[in-house]
Amino acid sequence: MINQRNMKKLLLSILLLAAGAGAFAQPRALDTTPPLRLDTKNMTLLLSAREGQALRYVYLGERLSDKDLAGVRYAGALNAEVYPAYGQRTMQGDAVAVTHGDGNMSLELPVREIRTEETPDATLLRVETKDPLYEFYVTIFFKAWKDVDMIETWTELRSGEKKPVTLRRFDSAALPIRVGDVWASHLYGTWANEGRLVQEPLTRGTLKIENKDGVRNSHTSHAEVMFSLDGKPQENSGTVLGAALCYSGNFHLEVITGDSDYHRFLAGISPDNSTLTLSRGESFRTPELAFTLSTEGLSGASRNFHDWARAHRIAHGDKERKILLNSWEGVYFDINEAGMDQMMGDIAAMGGELFVMDDGWFGDKYPRKNDSSSLGDWVVDRNKLPHGIQWLVDAAGRHGIDFGIWIEPEMANTVSELYEKHPDWIINAPDRSVVQGRGGTQVVLDLGNPAVQDYVFRIVDDLMTQYPGIKYIKWDANMNVSSHGSSYLKADRQSELYIRYHQGFAAVCDRIRAKYPDLTIQACASGGGRANYGVLPWFDEFWVSDNTDALQRIYMQWGTSYFFPSIAMASHISAVPNHTVYRVTPLKYRIDVAMSGRLGMELQPKDMTPEEIAQCKQAIAEYKQIRPTVQFGDLYRLVSPYDNRGIASLMYCAKDKSEAVFYWWRIENFYDSHFPRVKMAGLDPDRMYTAYELDKAPGQRPLSFEGKSFSGAFLMANGLEMPGGFSRDLTGYASRVLRLVAE
Ligand code: GLA
Repeated sequence: MINQRNMKKLLLSILLLAAGAGAFAQPRALDTTPPLRLDTKNMTLLLSAREGQALRYVYLGERLSDKDLAGVRYAGALNAEVYPAYGQRTMQGDAVAVTHGDGNMSLELPVREIRTEETPDATLLRVETKDPLYEFYVTIFFKAWKDVDMIETWTELRSGEKKPVTLRRFDSAALPIRVGDVWASHLYGTWANEGRLVQEPLTRGTLKIENKDGVRNSHTSHAEVMFSLDGKPQENSGTVLGAALCYSGNFHLEVITGDSDYHRFLAGISPDNSTLTLSRGESFRTPELAFTLSTEGLSGASRNFHDWARAHRIAHGDKERKILLNSWEGVYFDINEAGMDQMMGDIAAMGGELFVMDDGWFGDKYPRKNDSSSLGDWVVDRNKLPHGIQWLVDAAGRHGIDFGIWIEPEMANTVSELYEKHPDWIINAPDRSVVQGRGGTQVVLDLGNPAVQDYVFRIVDDLMTQYPGIKYIKWDANMNVSSHGSSYLKADRQSELYIRYHQGFAAVCDRIRAKYPDLTIQACASGGGRANYGVLPWFDEFWVSDNTDALQRIYMQWGTSYFFPSIAMASHISAVPNHTVYRVTPLKYRIDVAMSGRLGMELQPKDMTPEEIAQCKQAIAEYKQIRPTVQFGDLYRLVSPYDNRGIASLMYCAKDKSEAVFYWWRIENFYDSHFPRVKMAGLDPDRMYTAYELDKAPGQRPLSFEGKSFSGAFLMANGLEMPGGFSRDLTGYASRVLRLVAE
């Protein structure tokens, strides 16, 4: 019989058992209050918010039916703290750590108030917590989108303490991931080799993904990750949790694996050399962590990111992107009026819609002849362009295309009029020699300084008020923070330099977008240094890489597509030998790779043969036909270049499955290679699709299935055989693009 004393003993032992089960299990009674519920299309998040206790996760998984809701917490709940704070349990790995005004380093965050707001698009949950001993508040936010599978979470930290509070760690979120055969897929890279995929199992210890560039944050590592929860990552099967930290600056993502049943995933702004101080009344909002769940593998998680990005996160996510020619690889700094006019005429004749004049058009006292001067002096170089920018805008109009221009507003060269006037506007440790970057003279402006913010805003504002015909800006950023110091920040706030920089950047971008909502803006940063969801609310796209070699682009665009939709991925046809790796690939191959993203060109058309021009013209016309499917369709990655199977293949399917575009690239050239026959995905099994090959090279024999029809079921079970073998015109760099049109 269980008497009261026995009962107490039993309860105590249950509690102790739970406490020993790991860092997430707490000695507490079963939570019987109904949990808070947030739903997306296919995902449910349940939280336990009991007054006086920390906010806890109960469930994160596939969408729950009302029938199952009641039983979930009895089935074994997650029971993990949503925003673990340092101090009362010190070895778990925390999302937030502060030093109070009196030196106390501990924090507790019991729930005080819950508010939910329904909008047509989303449910917003706001949970306010407060330290019982201190006037220190943390509000935890969750925003669940109703039309896509994405939840965003962030926090706001606020101090009411008399003395300043130091924030030592201020992550956006912590998520529990059940231990098992879990693999992380994330991206690493460097200049000319961005977006490379790494896939690794989670093992004991800490996986840390971070970036400390200061300005650009997707070289070295990306702020996004996917977790395959049930074994080795698969593109089209398995459950995947994907997460993206929406921040433009230094970040860290950590997965801590200890002795508990759960990995702890933490994501936030990097606190390295970057503590924050909150004076009384001040608050700090952490960037959003966006997370999604898919039961359709990595490609499924990608589709969730793409849908969310197009609907809610990227500038003009619902607008088709124009086909453009960028002048950089064609002429580099050799800008002149006749040359620009010729390039505009040539891209217009090929069916392009936009011309972008890259670096080299500016500077008066110090004309920009190479990369060693003039950044900061955004006035036209009258020697190169005697009739100024308006003449170019008008010329573009005469050719029937739009005009765009390159700027690098966050930077200066020490050889510039700007630096002569404002040497104190740059980031550099006080009293130390100036650390200079690109061209031996480049420096970063101190965007934390409001005067610099005004100046940067005015660069765009002046251009746009003088030349309202400008439709596109390529916004570059080619240097990292090297020397730590700001003449603007007070001595005791120097550690805030990185964060203030990105707050300043955001403030400038907000002002630009408020005044110029329709402008198209590309984020470039030494190539792909700014592929992140921190900048994309203001930017329409990013330059994937300065490396335009088609073969290496297959790998880079593959990785980048994990998180970013094709409308954001600028992908250009360039000349051979390639300017970065000197590889020679057929024009068809280069077109077929560029056509799988936001198509553009990056070469001197006047150096092309009439046959090459004709081929590009044909490809541009064909791309216009498939553009809605490529830019707004569902991506299915089929064969990964990282799997060493000699080929890579992917496809886009229109949302209504009325058509699809299939890409196939050979990436190896060994005799006796045997390539897999690629099964398609995402089609309607019951519809018949007719296959048409696109971008046929001159003289190329038609494929055996040209114009033939197959059911979606057949294509998904068997695929179509691509021509194998070797011949002079079927080199290692063979490729095919098929348009599949439903009857
Ligand atoms: C960076 C960009 C390039 C080009 C040059 C111009 O390297 O990534 O695309 O704009 O700057 O200097």
